[in-house]
Amino acid sequence: MKLLILSLCIIANLSNNGKASLESFMPTKDNMILADTTKGSDKSCSRPCKFNVKPRRCTYDFEISPSIEENGRPALTINNLTPGPAIRVCLHDIVIVKVKNKVPNQDVTLHWHGVEQKGTPYMDGVPMITQCPIVFGSTYEYAFIASSPGTFFYHTDSVSHQSDGVYGSLIVDQPQPLEPHASLYDYDRSEEHTLMVGAKFNELLTGHLEGVNQIRPDNLSVNGDEMDTKIFVMQGYGYRLRLINAIALECPLLINVERHPMTIIASDANPLQPVITDAVRLYPGERMDVVVRTDQQSGGYWVRVSGEGVCEGLSAHAMLLYSGFNYTTMLEQGPNPESETNYDTITDSQHLPSLREASPVPSVKSVYLSIDKNSPKFKDADIDFSYRSDAMSKKPFFPAVLSSVKSVVQINGKNFLYPDAPYLLKPRDVHPNIICNVGEENEQMEPQCLQVLKAQANEVIELVLGNEGFNTNDSYTFHMHGQKMQVIATWQNPKNVPVSKSEIYKLYSEDIVTRNERNPPLKDTFVVPNKGFTVVRYTPIYGGSWLLECRSCSTILPVAILINVPISIPKLVIDALPSCGNYRPADLLLN
Ligand SMILES: *[C@@H]1O[C@H](CO)[C@@H](O)[C@H](O)[C@H]1NC(C)=O
Ligand SMILES: *[C@@H]1O[C@H](CO)[C@@H](O)[C@H](O)[C@H]1NC(C)=O
Ligand SMILES: *[C@@H]1O[C@H](CO)[C@@H](O)[C@H](O)[C@H]1NC(C)=O
Repeated sequence: MKLLILSLCIIANLSNNGKASLESFMPTKDNMILADTTKGSDKSCSRPCKFNVKPRRCTYDFEISPSIEENGRPALTINNLTPGPAIRVCLHDIVIVKVKNKVPNQDVTLHWHGVEQKGTPYMDGVPMITQCPIVFGSTYEYAFIASSPGTFFYHTDSVSHQSDGVYGSLIVDQPQPLEPHASLYDYDRSEEHTLMVGAKFNELLTGHLEGVNQIRPDNLSVNGDEMDTKIFVMQGYGYRLRLINAIALECPLLINVERHPMTIIASDANPLQPVITDAVRLYPGERMDVVVRTDQQSGGYWVRVSGEGVCEGLSAHAMLLYSGFNYTTMLEQGPNPESETNYDTITDSQHLPSLREASPVPSVKSVYLSIDKNSPKFKDADIDFSYRSDAMSKKPFFPAVLSSVKSVVQINGKNFLYPDAPYLLKPRDVHPNIICNVGEENEQMEPQCLQVLKAQANEVIELVLGNEGFNTNDSYTFHMHGQKMQVIATWQNPKNVPVSKSEIYKLYSEDIVTRNERNPPLKDTFVVPNKGFTVVRYTPIYGGSWLLECRSCSTILPVAILINVPISIPKLVIDALPSCGNYRPADLLLN
């Protein structure tokens, strides 16, 4: 990874500059200094993983701040880097990340995308749900156990902060004999062979999203670069590559390596039955692990990433370089645009069977969620996106100006409302009026409320997500926090006409649509196709307040419901966590 970020010193005083715009804190060309590139990857825990050795405590210091790239693009960075430092640990290690917010006027939290947070639901990183937001100048100490192996990433909860650059990879390795597909590859060097795709914008999105509904990135990047990322390989071996779509917009990606078919072995950190393909399609928030065999003539080959959806027409490249190959000319000539994206096979992971069979379930509780675009029934004045916390001054999280917006994506006709106290930690402090329970429809309820689905541990829930398509032609990608779900069925109307809830139930219950109950893929990120539906099933095991969210549905309004699984968090822990407005170290939380 080449690090392009230049750093800055912000000497800002919150009380004096509380109302200044973010731009006034951006560095000028004159006060940029070169970043210390050794910060790029924390080596403290990166090691070959062995059996019977004590897990380590892996500690990282993250400082989130505005910065400017070499090419003049503004960005939000972690330790002056975008993407942020790569975290690479072994299974069962304790990951501790001290996050300091140095972005004036902005609250942040970090979400560990795909991490199950067994026993640590308050480390999931959703503001006012699992924690108080980290206000400017303060620090939050995330601490969790890397309890399952695979490819993950982290990002800020806010779509605009993530889009401006605050994201990074998180890889959990395990002793090689435990890897179910170890026989398919010779090298698994996650520190060199992780390709994380992000979007780049010529302007900062943070503070500029008011009333903006449709956002199109200016460029795509692989590990922060548009063309410069290099993967060095030797001829005649199998290499495991980890692909991450770190974009928070409806931007599916096609990824292919010239003349090298890929074998998909995992998606969203879940091992799959291997499938060979020319190209993969990766939806926002999805990860795929693939094996590439270097059995071609020694040389250099382009890894091509091309965007779909709002990223249609955009591309980024990396290079797969056989050892000894002089790539100077290849880089000068650049990729050949003619030959791109004409792939014989393109594979999505949502249909691929898991390696392991699922246990049969006796009965399921079915819940229908309707996802559609509607005209908001509320007026600007009715909207309150503040965290409504008494302890904090009112801080708009998402802009409250909707005048230019004709329609917004809603779940069951409602938009998400942040509660007035962290729901997980202080449920009794949340005003009952703002909560609406899924399945208890109440016409009187405001169109904006905290929609909660009350689940019980070990009760099998089947969510039927219907994207009926009466008011929209968009497909939507959802992300489930805390636990993976089985994708049982997914269907898109070949006639390309809208489908109603009753038609969806008929198709599903009468087995007209293929169901996979035997070995469904386990995913934390899945697509609900337009004029179609997706059925996901899971058995909640871990207590917590888990968001089921569509990060790519809207840049201006959160689109989510909360799935609450009862848990009793010890008072000791609640007292040790920062309450909204002050901070105490979270060190004792894992003991
Ligand atoms: C970034 O995007 C601009 C405009 O879309 C394009 O002209 C430029 O070539 C892109 N940069 C790279 C390195 O692809
Ligand atoms: C690689 O090729 C370029 C251009 O042909 C040449 O200038 C350069 O010296 C070569 N580098 C090596 C290490 O051979
Ligand atoms: C969806 O696509 C159809 C056919 O192309 C078009 O007639 C319709 O206006 C589109 N609907 C929306 C909401 O864009």
